[in-house]
Amino acid sequence: SPVEPCDFTVFGGTGDLALRKLLPALYLRDRDGQLPDGFRVIGVSRHTADDDAYRAMVRDALTQHVSSADLDEAAVARLLARLHHVELDVEDVGAWHLLHARLKEGAASEDVIRVFYLAVAPGLFGTICEHLDEVGLATERSRVVLEKPMGSDLATARRVNEAVGRVFEESNIFRIDHYLGKESVQNLLVTRFANTFLEPLWNSHWVDHVQITAAESLGVGERGSYYDRSGALRDMVQNHLLQLLCLVAMEPPTYVDRETVRDEKLKVLQALRPMTPELVDRDVVAGQYAAGLCDGAPAKAYVDEVGQPSDTETFVALRTEVQNWRWAGVPFYLRTGKRLPERVSEIVVVFKEPPHAMFPHSEGPTEPNRLHIRVQPDEGMRLHMTAKEPGPGGIRLRPVSLDLSYAAAFGARSPDAYERLLMDVVRGNPTLFMRRDEVEAAWAWVAPILDRWSQPTHRPRRYPAGTNGPVAAATLLERDGRSWQETE
Ligand code: BG6
Repeated sequence: SPVEPCDFTVFGGTGDLALRKLLPALYLRDRDGQLPDGFRVIGVSRHTADDDAYRAMVRDALTQHVSSADLDEAAVARLLARLHHVELDVEDVGAWHLLHARLKEGAASEDVIRVFYLAVAPGLFGTICEHLDEVGLATERSRVVLEKPMGSDLATARRVNEAVGRVFEESNIFRIDHYLGKESVQNLLVTRFANTFLEPLWNSHWVDHVQITAAESLGVGERGSYYDRSGALRDMVQNHLLQLLCLVAMEPPTYVDRETVRDEKLKVLQALRPMTPELVDRDVVAGQYAAGLCDGAPAKAYVDEVGQPSDTETFVALRTEVQNWRWAGVPFYLRTGKRLPERVSEIVVVFKEPPHAMFPHSEGPTEPNRLHIRVQPDEGMRLHMTAKEPGPGGIRLRPVSLDLSYAAAFGARSPDAYERLLMDVVRGNPTLFMRRDEVEAAWAWVAPILDRWSQPTHRPRRYPAGTNGPVAAATLLERDGRSWQETE
């Protein structure tokens, strides 16, 4: 649907997320002709910068973060002309009327859509919403976008949700999980529900287990001060990995709209086997990278990157189950980590062995069917199956694969997740955003793990940078007679 004029205000407008992700995404949408006249982008920060200085800063950021093939001078100039900067200390009550005045000045219309993107520390979410309300900027035509972390546990998440909910209706609150904006993640729904051949097999009768991996080769880099208080469980599992699990496991909604998909995801979260202290000890592995070799170069230990002793986990592997009719007894193994051998996110559905061995005298390996859904990079799907090796002799079995590469099939650039999500906010479509009850259900599920790990005896197992995490992560599957599918 066409986009209405909008005042898109970014709190944290000079911050890393804005410069690296949000403004490049808006630039690309603008370049493709999707932003109408009257669409403005207002960066709010504590920096003293006038519009020109902000434009120069954003121009630099675009050159760095947009590929040169996508940079077009006329389009850059068009985006820069939409930009404004407002200097504001959000805790300075007296200063807010300035923001109001700046937004009124030159707005496309009185009831222009207003988006307030909070790319700031979550401790400020409540304060910002209150002040938006006080100066009359929180109307029915206003939307607020919250970036993670949405709290650091169930209690803080509830507090954030309550503070924001006092000002904005749930339908105007957009909680970003950028994994939901990834092309391949959206395609997961299409693959499951716009085809007939998978769904009849997508259950405990035919599926042996599911693996979900989000691996990164980078370390924490400059983000140590945030990350050290967070750790991989909060940073990746509570949100991105559980969202992927929901999309794999959910029931088909009757149709796709703003609530139906979210209703089904919530049911999955509610069906996750509750963690107990015993299960945490047995089924959840925490790791932290030590020095090693990553991407062919020496990599520092995590503690040396953050510059202090730390027991924050940079790796998590866990086993869980979705306790419902469809998935009873099927393990879901999740893992994520930094400083692993490569950056790759993948969902692997491993099917059961054929019920009857028809080729007892054949040579060659048989392997169960596996569907690999590659989230990134090289988005695509690969179905591993067994075929007869050509030849006149006896039957010789050989594993082969059916491959679908999006790049080859569609020949198009895969847009960045934020391009899709930001436009959904402007259009008022919350389907790909997390609802309050989902976020809280996810926190409730990880709570016993956080609890158990807060014991002084808890220490993540060290793994050398550039390896697949602690040995215990492999044991977690070996114990069940299975192994991680390393990516090919
Ligand atoms: C973010 C985490 O949400 O996701 C980061 O805070 C992580 O620690 C990032 O690196 C991974 O996102 P992507 O899109 O690169 O897989």
